[in-house]
Amino acid sequence: MRMVDLIEKKRDGHELSTEEINFIVKGYTDGSIPDYQVSALMMAIVFQGMTEKERADLTMAMVKSGDQIDLSQIEGIKVDKHSTGGVGDTTTLVLGPLVAAVGVPVAKMSGRGLGHTGGTIDKLESVAGFHVEIDNKEFIKLVNKNKIAVIGQSGNLTPADKKLYALRDVTATVESIPLIASSIMSKKIAAGADAIVLDVKTGAGAFMKTLEDSRELAKAMVRIGNNVGRRTMAVISDMSQPLGYAIGNALEVKEAIDTLKGEGPEDLTELCLTLGSYMVYLGNKADSLQEAREKLEQAIQDGLALEKLKVFLSSQGGDASVVDDPGKLPQAKYQFELEAKEDGFIAEITADEVGTAAMLLGAGRATKESSIDLAVGLVLRKKIGDQVKKGESLATIHSNFEDVSEVKQKLYDHIKISPEKTTAPILIHEAITE
Ligand code: URA
Ligand code: CA
Repeated sequence: MRMVDLIEKKRDGHELSTEEINFIVKGYTDGSIPDYQVSALMMAIVFQGMTEKERADLTMAMVKSGDQIDLSQIEGIKVDKHSTGGVGDTTTLVLGPLVAAVGVPVAKMSGRGLGHTGGTIDKLESVAGFHVEIDNKEFIKLVNKNKIAVIGQSGNLTPADKKLYALRDVTATVESIPLIASSIMSKKIAAGADAIVLDVKTGAGAFMKTLEDSRELAKAMVRIGNNVGRRTMAVISDMSQPLGYAIGNALEVKEAIDTLKGEGPEDLTELCLTLGSYMVYLGNKADSLQEAREKLEQAIQDGLALEKLKVFLSSQGGDASVVDDPGKLPQAKYQFELEAKEDGFIAEITADEVGTAAMLLGAGRATKESSIDLAVGLVLRKKIGDQVKKGESLATIHSNFEDVSEVKQKLYDHIKISPEKTTAPILIHEAITE
């Protein structure tokens, strides 16, 4: 097989065979096919697209390019959730204990954050003593015992995707639905998921800014999953404004605790119940979405979900007393209120810009090497659609330095107040279940 022939074939709009896709992915991973030929192929794919069969083949070729996590020793259907990324997205912290409380095994492999705010591990590490450096055996034992454990990313997962994503990043070929969909799905499958629930974000703070693109991406991922034997469902949810109120690591842990107590923000609670229902349904712990939702609501009411969080934290060395006393979480030295400059209604809280404001405080990493401050961040006091009076607080800024004028300016620029009544955005646009 010659790579140049395969580039030509795709350029002219023909379908690549399974063998051809395997040849390309293997050759690129081992270095026998050079960057420039793969770049040309990626650009051809951007214009010609990929058939459903090609997408499934590409996904599985990337899965097989490295280690695959074996979770077969864990009882039950391992359902993983993936979010395409948002600002102040506290869902993983809530969903883990919540679905574990109704018996769905949560075997989560997680990473650290880059950009806007921390990742799940960063957030969890704001609980004193909590650590994810456990070996595979311990991980599996904990999931079987408690139904939940989190382990740091280890091993050589989907090296083909890592290399391709880096190449696409510098060749203007990231923006291709088949390539994005295969990239995301390959990582979930290599990490051992039997079934997958996707939270595809849409809006200013999301990777996909329009509903049409988000829908197309969601459909593409659901098809890939089902075509390769992993039941997959997707929800398209709003990321025009941050989810919940808190943005920042320890602040989001507190928000997750509140939500598991049944006292969380309305939008975060609703999204968790929706995604959680799909997880419980796919995990065969309920016969319908309605029954799944009722079980989750019950677990919150009975305190089982909160209890599960305590067991989870203490099993991995964490001080579970923070659950009853969130004041023990890292606290910033200063709190400043962002006072509204006029009367009106909140029209916009641009998610990515507000995320960047939290990053300026130290809540997120600018580069992989930067350290983050777990205590700092923002707590919104208003969301889109809320009425506000001049002088009222729009947000509380939690900071470890005194001069927050740059952060304030950024927030004023991106929290827009309108004299006319505004309405809250739709939280859940649609579900794609095939
Ligand atoms: N995120 C991914 O993991 N892969 C892509 O290709 C784009 C976004
Ligand atoms: Ca939040």
